Amino acid sequence: MPRRWPSGSLQSVEPRILDPEPVLSLDRYVSQGGGRGLDAARRLGPIDIIDHVEASGLRGRGGAGFPTGVKWRTVAENLSPTVPPSVVINAAEGEPGSFKDRMILRRNPYKILEGALVAATAIGADRVTVAMKASFEEELDRVREAIAAVRDAGWADGVELAVVEGPSAYLYGEETALLEVVAGRAPFPRIAPPFRHGVEDVGADPFSAAHVTMAGPDNATPAPPTLVNNAETLANVPGILAEGPDWYRSVGTAESPGTVVCTITGHTRRHGVAEFAMGTPLREVVDTVGGGPREGVVVAALSGVANPLLPGAELDAPVSYEGMKEAGAGLGAAAAVLFAVNVTAVLPVTPSNVGVFQFACMLVLGVYGVGQADALAYGIVLQAVEVATAVALGSPALVKEGLSWREVRVRALHASPVHLEPLPGRASPERA
Ligand SMILES: Cc1cc2nc3c(=O)[nH]c(=O)nc-3n(C[C@H](O)[C@H](O)[C@H](O)COP(=O)(O)O)c2cc1C
Repeated sequence: MPRRWPSGSLQSVEPRILDPEPVLSLDRYVSQGGGRGLDAARRLGPIDIIDHVEASGLRGRGGAGFPTGVKWRTVAENLSPTVPPSVVINAAEGEPGSFKDRMILRRNPYKILEGALVAATAIGADRVTVAMKASFEEELDRVREAIAAVRDAGWADGVELAVVEGPSAYLYGEETALLEVVAGRAPFPRIAPPFRHGVEDVGADPFSAAHVTMAGPDNATPAPPTLVNNAETLANVPGILAEGPDWYRSVGTAESPGTVVCTITGHTRRHGVAEFAMGTPLREVVDTVGGGPREGVVVAALSGVANPLLPGAELDAPVSYEGMKEAGAGLGAAAAVLFAVNVTAVLPVTPSNVGVFQFACMLVLGVYGVGQADALAYGIVLQAVEVATAVALGSPALVKEGLSWREVRVRALHASPVHLEPLPGRASPERA
């Protein structure tokens, strides 16, 4: 019996993050109110800035939803006595199916830079680094233009602005791997104590992250902390400073205030990116952006490969951290890949076959690395995901052939998408 989700959470909102048209100059951004957040931040000073961000309830849009104000306060309370901290904008966007950071960068890179400069003011940073993939050519051009304009306008006085072009590896988006790349090493996550057993085996390998000194509380080490925030997270900051935390909270839910920029891909009529109030039912997002399923019925949605699948019967769940969690899935980067099948009967998506599905996805991701050549890689993954869905949902075509995981992987690369056939005698979850 599908759960009944509360209705009436629909809010019609003015766009806050994703401008309807590309903002092509700093002058244009200023004419639309840009820069007022940074002015307010410089008037307020570090403590009040952090209080504002904490009171707004802003949560990190990189996937984990960590409270941004808490993160900023933690950095501010653990500064190095000798070396200033820095801010790193995570614009590596590696989550399969996610295109929201790139879309924000294309529409308005100034807003992200302004948010990062507010963060730099809050923690006393002397450097802001935009970490992107070298393959994001259009976005790199826009960011470089924006940095030059912001510098010329004197917005960044005392703060160096830099761009790092990283590899197309999925892992690069993980924040410690990102910092490794910023430091000129390979995109491998840092190994934080106490999980160090065996890392000494890597010896003096200069590409290893094992020997990096961690910043610690109470000036335990001279290493300065670095504030890493997702690009969309930082794009929320100017509005919070300019309009105040209450304005920010006037949209969204108590636990997930504000708006969220969602990407919809997979088996929908269209793929796209749009901004919604937090708490909007996912079905509304899917229908508005994607035009509904391409054919048949939505059997599942995946928002973040580390999250469980959201069964199609839960499609009315609110797009919010708590809503997706209550539905048994997760919000991730609000990038929902939809799976629809044109069948009269499918196996229900249960915890047991969801695991199979995710294993197959991770296998493909691990082997081919999403984002390798963006569109191509997404194509491969989506195709692989179709195969994996077929397996998870018990496609007779694959199951009968008794394919091993290795074979599924190879099929994912070379075969055309698998068309699911009805399983005789099974009721679809939507009809049950
Ligand atoms: C495997 C993995 C990949 C990730 N990829 C990204 C990414 O592409 N972009 C991003 O912003 N965060 C990514 N994250 C999350 C970051 O590690 C980090 O939590 C985030 O940048 C923090 O910013 P926020 O607090 O503003 O969300 C990834 C995490 C993991 C574990």
